[in-house]
Amino acid sequence: MITINKITIAIDGFSSCGKSTLAKALAKKLNYVFIDSGAMYRGISLYCIENKISVDKEINEEVLIQHLPDIEIHFELNTENQSPELFLNGENVENKIRKIEVASIVSKVASIKEVRQKLVVLQQKMGELGGIVMDGRDIGSVVFPNAELKLFVTADPETRAQRRFLELQSKNENVTLEEISFNLEERDRIDSTRKESPLRQANDAILLDNSNLNQEQQLELVYTMIKEKIREISLLSNH
Ligand code: DC
Repeated sequence: MITINKITIAIDGFSSCGKSTLAKALAKKLNYVFIDSGAMYRGISLYCIENKISVDKEINEEVLIQHLPDIEIHFELNTENQSPELFLNGENVENKIRKIEVASIVSKVASIKEVRQKLVVLQQKMGELGGIVMDGRDIGSVVFPNAELKLFVTADPETRAQRRFLELQSKNENVTLEEISFNLEERDRIDSTRKESPLRQANDAILLDNSNLNQEQQLELVYTMIKEKIREISLLSNH
C-alpha cells in the first residue's frame, strides 16, 4: 500500500484575503514548508527604493533588469515564531517589506517579466520536494501547475481593507483605511490586468470566499480538503 505523504498546495487570490495567514497555519499543522511568494516581490521592490531605482513610485525598468543578478533573496526560519523571514542581500528585511511604500510599488515591480522569471525559478526550487504551501498570484497557474491542491481565495473588498488596516495598526503603521482601500484596489487592478502571468483562477482551483469565515473555520475547512485529497491520491496510486 503506497501512502502519499506530502503534496504541493498552491494558494492564490486577491490582495489581503488572508492567503498568507492560511498558508502559514496549514504548513504548521501539516509540518510543511510555508513560502509567501509576495514577500519575494516585495524584497525586489525594497531594493528598488533603497537603490533609487524607484523614484516617486516610478520604476526604472531597464536599470532594475541590469541589477537583477545582484539581488539575492532567500528565507530563513525565525526560530522564535517558526515563521520564514525574507533576507535581501544578507539583511533581514521582513519588517521593511511590509511598509506601505513597498506596497505602493510592488505590483508594478511584479509586472516586469524578468523579475517574474527570476523569482519563479527560485520558487520552483523551493518546492522541488513537495510538502510546501505557497501563496501568491500565479502559484497554481505558473509556478506549480501540477500542484495537487489549488485554492483561489477571495473576500469582499471592505472586509479585506479592514483586516489589513487592523494588521498595520497593530504594527503602529500610520495609515488610513482610505489609503489601504485605494492601495488594495490599485494592486488588484494591476495584478489582474498585467501581461505577464496575470492573477486568475486556475481552471482546477477551488474558489474559497472567506468573507464570513474566521481563521479557525477556514483552516478546518481547508485541512479537511487536504486530507480528502491525500486519501484520493493514495487510493488512485494503489489501483
Ligand atoms: O501577497 P502580497 O500582497 O504580499 O504580494 C505583493 C505583490 O506581489 C502583489 O501586488 C502581487 C505580487 N505578486 C505576484 O505578482 N505574484 C506572486 N506570486 C505573489 C505576489
